[in-house]
Amino acid sequence: MIPRLGVNIDHVATIRNARGGDYPDPVKAAQIAAKAGADGITAHLREDRRHITDLDIKRLGQEIDLPLNLEMAATDEMLAIALNAAPHAACIVPEKREERTTEGGLDVAGQHNHLAHFVRALKENGTRVSLFIEPVQAQLEAALVLGAPVVELHTGAYADACNAGQHGEAKRILDDLCAAASFGMGEGLEIHAGHGLTFDTVAPVAAIKPVRELNIGHFLVSEAIFCGLFETITHMRKLIAQSRTGLAS
Ligand code: PXP
Repeated sequence: MIPRLGVNIDHVATIRNARGGDYPDPVKAAQIAAKAGADGITAHLREDRRHITDLDIKRLGQEIDLPLNLEMAATDEMLAIALNAAPHAACIVPEKREERTTEGGLDVAGQHNHLAHFVRALKENGTRVSLFIEPVQAQLEAALVLGAPVVELHTGAYADACNAGQHGEAKRILDDLCAAASFGMGEGLEIHAGHGLTFDTVAPVAAIKPVRELNIGHFLVSEAIFCGLFETITHMRKLIAQSRTGLAS
């Protein structure tokens, strides 16, 4: 089965917010993503609203037919918004104000008591919950204890190692991703992956058999500047599909 592609449109909003106006419109980007064959739209409403805004989330819910995956920190403010918006899915991520992007996975193992309430409330509201974690067995075990049906494995370190030409390190992290994915699937978790993936780095992750969904954003929006969003997403989908025809996990 070919992994679904969730297109993260945060950085369309980053460009819009650079001038404080209405364009480029992330909802228009989501519409193009739908035409290009995206399986879902992902958006991270950050505490500081540096890219996606509350109005974007509302409009994405109203104007887009694809399932919405809301990335959110485990805070009371975000929980209230998620319960009101009732997106198809919510991915709980760690969030630090000073970080440029989501730098590491959630410490599910260390934060069980804090996270339990969020997972339960979202699930009861009909939202599919995922936890964004490092590919570490203890984190998957903690996700299972919490009753989260999905984990998203953080691929940022793998992507960074690839980009730095550290092939041995990239292979080591890829092995961790494979092991975590196999363990999680064996325990009944749905496995997603994402962060930092590009045309050059997506295939080995997409080829990990248990991976059912990839969430990709920054590279797609970056490449769209040169090639257009539709063409960029179409090509990414092609690479993901090809990864399942030749490679094994
Ligand atoms: N998955 C999660 C949970 C994320 O937080 C992000 C970044 O918002 C992504 C995937 C996409 O990462 P990138 O924009 O680097 O492709």
